[in-house]
This record gives sequence, structure tokens and C-alpha cells, in this order.
Amino acid sequence: MSGAPREDPGREPEPVTITVCPDGPLLVRGSYELLDGEDRPLDPGRATVALCRCGASAIKPFCDGSHKRARFRAR
Ligand code: FES
Repeated sequence: MSGAPREDPGREPEPVTITVCPDGPLLVRGSYELLDGEDRPLDPGRATVALCRCGASAIKPFCDGSHKRARFRAR
């Protein structure tokens, strides 16, 4: 997958949803486009991406599960 919007020829773009995981990441699904701070595409390599909101991930902006060790708490 490139950083371009995920679109398959002949298929309608999927609505984007962002789900807040209690004590964890934000899950982004659908035909999203992920950009870095300089508007360059980031390739998450998968259809659903988990974005860190605890600040402890070693692979920001993606979640690597470190929120559990950091005992991150948020709803
Ligand atoms: S939310 Fe999972 S590592 Fe930060």
C-alpha cells in the first residue's frame, strides 16, 4: 500500500472511522490517508492502523503496545 488513499479500482471508498480504545490507541479504519508533519504520506502497511495516544510507543505515530507497560489511562 502506498501513502495514497486506499482505493481499489471499481470499489467505493470506505468511510473513515476512528475508534478510541479505552487505555489504548486510536484505531483508524476506512479509506484514510496518513501524512507526517510535513504532509508526506506514511505507509502503515495495513488497512486498520493503531495510532499511539500515550506517547510511549517506540514506533510513533503507531502503537506498539507500550501503553500497557506505561499503564496509560484514558477513556
Ligand atoms: S497507545 Fe499504544 S503505545 Fe501508545
